[in-house]
Amino acid sequence: MSDHDQVKMTKMDYSPERPKADNPVKIEDLSLRDGHQSLFATRGRTEDMIPVAELMDEVGFWAIETWGGATFDTMHRFLNEDPWERIRTLKRYFKKTPFSMLLRAQNLVGYRNYADDVANAFMDRACENGMDIFRTFDALNDYRNFQTVVPKIKEYGKHFQGCICYTMTEPRLGGEVYNLDYYVNKAKDLEAMGADSICVKDMAGLMAPYDAYEIVSALKKNIKAPIHLHSHFTSGMSPMTHLKAIEAGVDIIDTCMSPYAYRTSHAAIEPLVMTLLGTSRDTGFDIKLLARINEIFEKEVMPKYMHLLDDSKASIIDINVLLHQTPGGMLSNLVNQLREMDALDKIDEVYKELPKVRKELGQIPLVTPTSQIVGIQTVNNVLFDDENERYKMITAQVKDLCYGLYGKTAVPIDPEVQKKALKGYERGEEPITCRPAEVLEPELAKAQEMAKGIAVDLDDEVLVAIYPVTGMKFLKWKYGKEQPPEEVRAKSLEEAKAGIDLVRKARAGQVVEKTQKEAAPDKTENLRTFNVFVGDDFLEVGVDEVGGSPVVNYIQQMPAAPVAQPMAPAPVAPAAPVAPAAPAPAAPAAEEPAPAAEPTPAVAADVEGTPMTAPMPGMIVRYEKNVGDAVTEGETVVVLEAMKMENALPAPAGGTVKAINFSSGDSVAKGDVLCVIG
Ligand code: CO
Repeated sequence: MSDHDQVKMTKMDYSPERPKADNPVKIEDLSLRDGHQSLFATRGRTEDMIPVAELMDEVGFWAIETWGGATFDTMHRFLNEDPWERIRTLKRYFKKTPFSMLLRAQNLVGYRNYADDVANAFMDRACENGMDIFRTFDALNDYRNFQTVVPKIKEYGKHFQGCICYTMTEPRLGGEVYNLDYYVNKAKDLEAMGADSICVKDMAGLMAPYDAYEIVSALKKNIKAPIHLHSHFTSGMSPMTHLKAIEAGVDIIDTCMSPYAYRTSHAAIEPLVMTLLGTSRDTGFDIKLLARINEIFEKEVMPKYMHLLDDSKASIIDINVLLHQTPGGMLSNLVNQLREMDALDKIDEVYKELPKVRKELGQIPLVTPTSQIVGIQTVNNVLFDDENERYKMITAQVKDLCYGLYGKTAVPIDPEVQKKALKGYERGEEPITCRPAEVLEPELAKAQEMAKGIAVDLDDEVLVAIYPVTGMKFLKWKYGKEQPPEEVRAKSLEEAKAGIDLVRKARAGQVVEKTQKEAAPDKTENLRTFNVFVGDDFLEVGVDEVGGSPVVNYIQQMPAAPVAQPMAPAPVAPAAPVAPAAPAPAAPAAEEPAPAAEPTPAVAADVEGTPMTAPMPGMIVRYEKNVGDAVTEGETVVVLEAMKMENALPAPAGGTVKAINFSSGDSVAKGDVLCVIG
């Protein structure tokens, strides 16, 4: 260690009661939010956080991240859990450690900027429900999008952590846009807004160790507020990056408990505790206490989630991040989307097109939601463009971005792309330059009207304001107006273990395949069907319990199903019977889980006319036309959400809408007939 480094060897007392270090590194634990969001598609349930909560409260973490990012979305959509309830429940167990949430500024916990009235209501409820630290970021680093939420944080006396999204255009820090000055200036802006701490948010794990040293040194020199580093492991650099940041004097580091660490998540806390033991930056943590928490996670919690872990590759790092500087979660979303559209062979074209699209759209950072906006537009360009025309199918979100609804881009948007995107755009063809929310009409009252008769409080109404389709669906489950589907049910530890056992046996070749049907005994009513995933292969296994231990009744090799994704294997579902096309969990995405396609009802289009088919799998947001309405060719008939992006689908022909086959909230497969125009 050189003289100017901040780490000095001090005492050789390694006991849990050792004296406090001069300048201990503070640690925020992310296991209960970013950890399972990164590794297990945000599927962590509150009931699986409670067994460790009181012990984790004893560790001495600076904060525990419990909420935000994709949790709000995933909980109500896939887990049938009220996201607000999670904060209140966990608060009963964490009595000392502050809670931190990831807040997407004016995007709140959604994927677009919301009107100020929704933002204010959301912030009131988040503060009152018990959130303490608001890690606030804007995907464009446009801090005008902080102007509504920050005064709320201050009004409640909570901690405002201002974020700078870390991104690059070069293999390392530098270049014309995202250079050292950029980060120092952004930090100064945040400090001027009253940031209580400043976080550099490296969502893709792009920050190299020596760049971290340079950035943290510069920030420590220019900024008074504590500096916090959030660097994903994805590329494999983060433990080294952490150490160099610590040597440069970083105040707070983000880590996970080891079962939730590495891959696209974060480095583990345990090796860092040992690394810093006996130095001037010793965390002071008791390694034995951490081990106890790990044991509970491993034995009581992890078996329920192992089927969601991507173990299709031996390598735990993503080399593509180093090659393409693309966030890991975004890559897995792209791969999933291409696979769903039978176009995985186009992945190299996507890699080539992506930096081009990003540059044309203003060289924006790639983080939720801009990573999806750029990613999906890139896929659309690769799939639908031809040599004569680029940007043939522009998503609604790209139009919004070109209009200025997300904020100011790092460099101006390509004028030609912008002009094309805004042709006939509903808000106007001339882009805005003001703070985006200034042009947004209030929208809370509309949500309240929609949720009337079912929502009982503002928490419910805010949920519907942010997620109108899935939010309403959830409220129906919550208040017993609709039966929640089987796949949102929590699985027991026993069910999970039975599934793991089967996979293990299948892998070891201990499951004997019966090729001759007549050799198998008759199936009884005890037959239970399991979906077993072995890497890319998908087997349906019938298990018939005849008195003693389960007997494997049959194994059927299934055709390559869209759910058998290496990034997101479908859950092993021991409860019988599960259709082969059961919904897969979303891809584990660093910051962005994607909704998975649900089973599609067979639709009979026995009406005369031109069928309008879904160009991609997705969820119907709304029909803009009713049966009997006249449409002209090219007019928007349906808005389809695919990978969180809305696509306005144009009428393939003019005429009258003869039949509509789905409704809002329905999932559709590629090729499904959405409506018939005759
Ligand atoms: Co993160």
